[in-house]
Amino acid sequence: MVRAFRTLAAVALLTVSLLACGDDDGGDGASPSSPPASLDGAATGEPLAAPEVIAGEDGPGGRQLVAKLEVAKAPTEIAGVEMTALTYNGSFQPPLLEMTPGDHVEITIVNGLDEATNLHTHGLHVSPITPGDNVLMTIPAGESFTYEYDLPDDHAPGTYWYHSHAHGISEGQVFAGMSGVIVIRGLDELLPADLRDVTQHVFALKDIQIEDGAIITDNIDSNASTTRLVNGQLQPVVTMRPGEIQLWRLANVGADIFYRVALSGAELHVIAEDGNPVAQVRSFDDLVMPPGKRFDVLVQAADSGSMNLETLGYDQGGDTYPEVTLATVAIDGDPAPELSLPTSLAPFDDLREVEAAESRSFAFTEDDANNQFFINGEMFSHDRVNTVVQLDTVEEWAISNDTTEQHPFHIHVNDFQVVSVNGEAYDAVSLQDTVILPPGGDVVIRMHFTDFLGKYVYHCHILNHEDNGMMAVLEVVAAA
Ligand code: C2O
Ligand code: CU
Ligand code: CU
Repeated sequence: MVRAFRTLAAVALLTVSLLACGDDDGGDGASPSSPPASLDGAATGEPLAAPEVIAGEDGPGGRQLVAKLEVAKAPTEIAGVEMTALTYNGSFQPPLLEMTPGDHVEITIVNGLDEATNLHTHGLHVSPITPGDNVLMTIPAGESFTYEYDLPDDHAPGTYWYHSHAHGISEGQVFAGMSGVIVIRGLDELLPADLRDVTQHVFALKDIQIEDGAIITDNIDSNASTTRLVNGQLQPVVTMRPGEIQLWRLANVGADIFYRVALSGAELHVIAEDGNPVAQVRSFDDLVMPPGKRFDVLVQAADSGSMNLETLGYDQGGDTYPEVTLATVAIDGDPAPELSLPTSLAPFDDLREVEAAESRSFAFTEDDANNQFFINGEMFSHDRVNTVVQLDTVEEWAISNDTTEQHPFHIHVNDFQVVSVNGEAYDAVSLQDTVILPPGGDVVIRMHFTDFLGKYVYHCHILNHEDNGMMAVLEVVAAA
């Protein structure tokens, strides 16, 4: 299970929530779509609110994105309910950073917490060397630090995110609010001309559990009843015209739990995965999204009535998640003109056609009783480099999951191509940065280590597992 080691209090909470949900489909028992008791009085049905945007702009030395994120434990309002959260700039759903390929990025973290933190920009292909995206460094309580790097001119456009990566406490910090969305501009320009101006919405998915008026940060039970929010709202409403096509940016920016997103049986047409525009648009009834996962999708409204954006029931192997309504779609107004969907957004260089300089294997294991998690038998250490890779080479990694639950594998800086899952060939249509390792199975990936030297990490993106050992250090070195 995601959180194998529980306090008595958490067990008690879980028991209460099981009792409360015991009568799903009969009478007036709690239905899967009603908010848990902890958010009673919360506002539902408000129009979907977009996060505030901090956008890149022209600066004295060229394009730049300059942002300041002040971290504080502070009271904030979530769905109309006042509670204490760990906030960036006072908000549970902090500013969306909108970047353009080629931007010079400067993000200042002002750490107002009484513990350390740091910042990771998940999925960005940027230098991991300080002052770049170095998560092996932390910012002590009360101090500030400015991360600074250049986004490559050819950076893939799409949806990314940022979050605390402070080892040992990242789960609590992200769970209590410290995650936000990044959009790299340009995805819409890859759409057919008549779709370039489609309405776009961000759906930042996080959940909360509250105790004594604050989002909890300790002993988080990812299998307990939880409240799933979209952009910090409870079941907001999106309005679409009959037949209208919109671009939705789905991002699981939560700490531990999975989503299985579906839209009232309508297909979700994936145009980018983890910020990588696809070579072939594929359509799905639902999309499984482990922590860290993003999909940019085109969706089409029905001709009338309403639709529900839901997370369907899902068994992660350790946790079992119920079906919950995330948002609703109200269909209103004049029918939209009929437009056809794209079939491809960008070319894709198949890494199977390149010779791999190195093949490695990794095993993900856990010790349930002690809540310890391992990669190749070792728990994370800041002081150990687990894997040394030569710049500009392609490697093949076989990653096995020797446990009974899913682990989402994630690596920084360079995205990978999935080439097989459980021994079956996988026809990737883009790179990705997060993939689920099936229980008792394995995934084989290929990666091209381009552009950046330095140390960075790969890990399970269930942050409870990452904090408790399931992370390792990779160092990219210059060719000998
Ligand atoms: Cu979302 Cu190591 O990161
Ligand atoms: Cu990352
Ligand atoms: Cu894991």
